[in-house]
Amino acid sequence: MNSYPFTTLIEFIIAKQADIMEAKGEFSRILYSLGVAAKMINKKVNKAGLVDILGAAGSTNIQGEDQKKLDVFADEQLIGSFKASGEVCGVATEENDEIVVFDHEMSKDAKYIICMDPLDGSSNIDVNVSIGTIFSIYRRITPRGSKPELKDFLQKGSRQVAAGYIIYGSSTMLVYTTGNGVIGFTLDPSLGEFCLSHPAIKTPPGELYSINEGNYLAFPEGVKRFLKYCQEKKEDENRPYTSRYIGSLVADFHRNLLKGGIFLYPQTLSNPNGKLRLLYECNPIAFIAEQAGGKASSGKTRVLDILPESLHQRVPFYTGSANLIDKLEEFL
Ligand code: AHG
Ligand code: MN
Ligand code: MN
Repeated sequence: MNSYPFTTLIEFIIAKQADIMEAKGEFSRILYSLGVAAKMINKKVNKAGLVDILGAAGSTNIQGEDQKKLDVFADEQLIGSFKASGEVCGVATEENDEIVVFDHEMSKDAKYIICMDPLDGSSNIDVNVSIGTIFSIYRRITPRGSKPELKDFLQKGSRQVAAGYIIYGSSTMLVYTTGNGVIGFTLDPSLGEFCLSHPAIKTPPGELYSINEGNYLAFPEGVKRFLKYCQEKKEDENRPYTSRYIGSLVADFHRNLLKGGIFLYPQTLSNPNGKLRLLYECNPIAFIAEQAGGKASSGKTRVLDILPESLHQRVPFYTGSANLIDKLEEFL
């Protein structure tokens, strides 16, 4: 009898083995390796101000963004862990221009590839606001044993076998889906174990919107009309809605996933195709949103139906409660 009142991540995966991909333990090993990296990153995040982990790493990534030390640390931890799992043959990450190929013996035969944003919300690291890690798992489409190629990573989001995020917030949580609903685990720091805390997350209808209104003048007219709809007084529909924006996609999305709401990142002057990256921000978040009963759109199409053209491709991104996405699309 488990004297601990919670189910740990490993107990859950073993018990659920049959539902998760090819139940030969592959997903277990990937998720276990992710959990190890998450605990390493969490340790640094929790000490941020006390260790030399804050501030810029003095390098920039392909997006031309200054890399923070924690971006690079998280990237290295996750790549190392996925490599050690033996189940992953390559990784596409925000912090590396090209795909990272694992061509050592143990991984060449691996079936899976991962797209990841090792640290999401970097601008918030130095000011102690929640940040996250986002991951997306696909089966490779090139033959096992050969080196993974770009086309293994440029698959439609609808072909994801699993996706999730870790949020380093007031508590550290792992939230993921394998296509059978959305499950949440909370880290018990006293044990160093992720424990099942949200067995089946469902997004309720929303009355909240999240957007960086600083870009208002550049928004498409339909988005402007939707925002005015959210702000107009209509008591029998609980309008005006509430506005909440943290500036970390994982934190903004996680709140809306649990409480209901819509997150919008439209095209702006500085990002004419939107700011968020399709492979490792929009697709994984879209898979989770849909599995929780919500939706995810680029304003033109279902995000999971977009055929990617490049690793760091950006798309306009609207995701959250189905009622709010439907209303937005009426205006678009
Ligand atoms: P990252 O730190 O991985 O580059 O992602 C930051 C993203 C996302 O987390 C957030 O929703 C968005 O940037 C905020 O952008 P603005 O500061 O332009 O609102
Ligand atoms: Mn990000
Ligand atoms: Mn990032």
